[in-house]
Formats: sequence, structure tokens, C-alpha cells
Amino acid sequence: MNTIQGIQYIVNASPDHGKGPAFLSPAETAAVQAFHEALPEYAPTALVPLPELAESLGIKAAFIKDESTRFGLKAFKGLGGSYAVFRAVCDRLGLDYRETSIEELQSDKVHRQIAELHFVTATDGNHGKGVAWAAAKLGCHAHVYLPKGSVQARAQAIRDIGKTEAVITDLGYDDAVRYAAKMADEHDWLLIQDTSWPGYEDIPRTIIQGYTTMCREASEQLEELGLAPTHVFLQAGVGAMAGGVLGWLRNRYPDSDLTAAIVEPTEAACVFESVAAADGKMHPAAGSGRTIMAGLNCGEVCPLTWPILRCQADAWFSCPDQVAIQGMRLLNRADVISGESGAVTAGLASLMAQDAFADVKQALKLNRDSVLLLFSTEGDTDPEAYREIVNICRAQTSAC
Ligand SMILES: Cc1ncc(COP(=O)(O)O)c(C=O)c1O
Repeated sequence: MNTIQGIQYIVNASPDHGKGPAFLSPAETAAVQAFHEALPEYAPTALVPLPELAESLGIKAAFIKDESTRFGLKAFKGLGGSYAVFRAVCDRLGLDYRETSIEELQSDKVHRQIAELHFVTATDGNHGKGVAWAAAKLGCHAHVYLPKGSVQARAQAIRDIGKTEAVITDLGYDDAVRYAAKMADEHDWLLIQDTSWPGYEDIPRTIIQGYTTMCREASEQLEELGLAPTHVFLQAGVGAMAGGVLGWLRNRYPDSDLTAAIVEPTEAACVFESVAAADGKMHPAAGSGRTIMAGLNCGEVCPLTWPILRCQADAWFSCPDQVAIQGMRLLNRADVISGESGAVTAGLASLMAQDAFADVKQALKLNRDSVLLLFSTEGDTDPEAYREIVNICRAQTSAC
């Protein structure tokens, strides 16, 4: 393990990536594409070129997928929540999801059967918003529990959707997940949680599959430009998104030497610390959990994606909040509104232009042939904090 400017990192010098898991193959995720494309709010999000970043790094190209416009929800998370709600309802009604459309589930006949269904989840905000949105589409109820310290703006954005209860608890994220599972048990509600544990895997698996729409679109958009990614940096909370995207990319580009980095906040670095322990096991994060990257503030790794995060990535980073701030400002200058959890990978990439990071850049094989793919996974989900971070910078100097 090494540290530069407060950023800790591990690079695997001799990775043996192998293929991604079967549930993340393009064939297995075709139903995800069909489901999302049938939603009236569906449109591929923009893949934004970042020429200044590419130039500063001396690489061929850099792009960021801008998820701030996804379904009008300001974050990518609705991709997983909506697909999981759809699959759970199909399951409940004994319908084949491959032959069922969202319109059928919205018909009067089905509506009468599911109107009293309640969905429940714990969330930093973004996932719960996606679940509430999908539940509202079907006229169902949703209960969303946010961890202590969550901002009211995020809770209110969830309450504003359909028949939704959103409560800021006094629990940390991982305990809020356990609380949501307990409420599901006690009230016979359907738990739509974006992490797994032994015995609770089917629904998280569909959530992870749901995220793959984001990388499928990115790979098609790159293909239109005659490009394929050589590098991908993925931010992780529990690592469901990072593992899902990486596993899908390994299947999509089986012969490529794609280099993948997993990026977390220092104070909630469960993947990084598990990799650092080097015993193959998942370990809870030891940090304080105090970070502005609310979506990444998770203390326990998702067991379903842990094998992908551990074996199919090439590098792992834990970053102080300042890296996210740097990323938000950089992306704002490129006209991408990116929140704290969305921007950290861009912040990290931009640091690699500095001499201090020359060895890291070399270890990651970032060179003039490289095509770097990043995901801005949220917009300004905390608008006040966003304005403060970005405007202060603008007022200070145009260079920051
Ligand atoms: C904006 C944003 N980015 C990234 C993530 C990380 O996803 P995961 O918890 O699957 O690692 C989250 C999780 O809530 C998020 O809200």
C-alpha cells in the first residue's frame, strides 16, 4: 500500500482478470435493456468528452457518462431500483419477466392485485428515490430509511414521489439496511436493497444487472466513435455498481487489457481495506464514516460483487473529500453537474497529471493510447452543498 497527498492506493501488478460472471453477460442483461428502453422517461445519458483532462494526462481521450439526467432522478441509481421492482412484481404475480411489459403491470387488472404492495429500502438517498419512483409508477407504497446525518433535501426529494414515507433514522448506513430488512419481515413488505447477504441475493442481483444499462450505453457511444475503453475508474459504496459495471465490461471486452480502478472515500473504504487485508475476506471499513460523499458512505462490501472487485480490478484507491471537491469543480467547468459521489473519480484522474503521481500513472499504464471512461453517477443531489463547493471556487480563481 502507498500514500500520496493523503490518497492511499494498491496496484495489482499481475492481475488475472478472467471473464465476468454469467449474470452480467450482455445476453443475460438483454432483458434489462428491453425494460429500461420501454420506460417513457428513458433516454441514453450523454457521454461527455473531457479533452482538457485527456490532454493534461497525455492520453488519447477521456469521457464521463453524465448520469445527472437519468430518468429525471439526478442519479444512476433508478436503473437498478426500477428493474428490481419490476422483477419483484413479476415474481410475486408468477409472470415471466422476459414476456411482461411495464404497461401490463400498470393495467387496471394488475393494479388491483398490487395496489397494496409495499416496498422498503435503506438508502443514502439516490437508491431510495429510484425505488420510490418505480413503486409510484405501479401505484404501490414505498418506505425509505436514510442514515443519520442525511440532508433533509434528499429525504424531501423522496417524499415528493408518490405514496412514499422517507425517514432520516439515527442509524449508520449498514444498520439502516438491517432496520429496513427487519421492517420488511415484520410487515410483509418487499425489501429492495442494493446490497446482498447470505440468503438475500436474488433482488440485489437484479439491481446490479439494472446498473449495466449505464455501461452498455457507454460502450455503444464509444463504439460510434470507433473507440473502446482501455481504462475505467469506478467509485464504490458497497461496490454493487462498481462490481456490476466491471463484471459487465469484462464480459463485453473479453480480450482487452482493460485496466480498472476502484475508488472510495478514505473514511468509508470497505473495498480498499478488504483488499489491503489480503486474506480474501471482506472486512468492515474502519474509518469514521464522515465524508461528503454520501452515496459512497458504506461500511460493508456487497458479497455478490466482492469477487469481481477483488479479482477483476487492477487498482484500489481511498481518497479524502478534497478529491471529490476537485472533481466537482473540474466537471463543472466541463458543464457536467456532478455531486460529491459522482465526481471523485474525475478528481482522482486529474491528480494523475501531477509529477507526484507519475509512478501511479505508469503502473496503471495510462499512456497516449489510453481511452479513460468515468461515470458521474449523480448530479447535484444536495443542491446547496453543490452550489457552495462550486461557487466558492468560481469566486476565488478561475484556475481552481
Ligand atoms: C451517486 C452514487 N454513486 C455511487 C454509488 C455507489 O454505489 P454502490 O453502493 O453500489 O457501490 C452510490 C450509492 O448509493 C451513489 O448514490
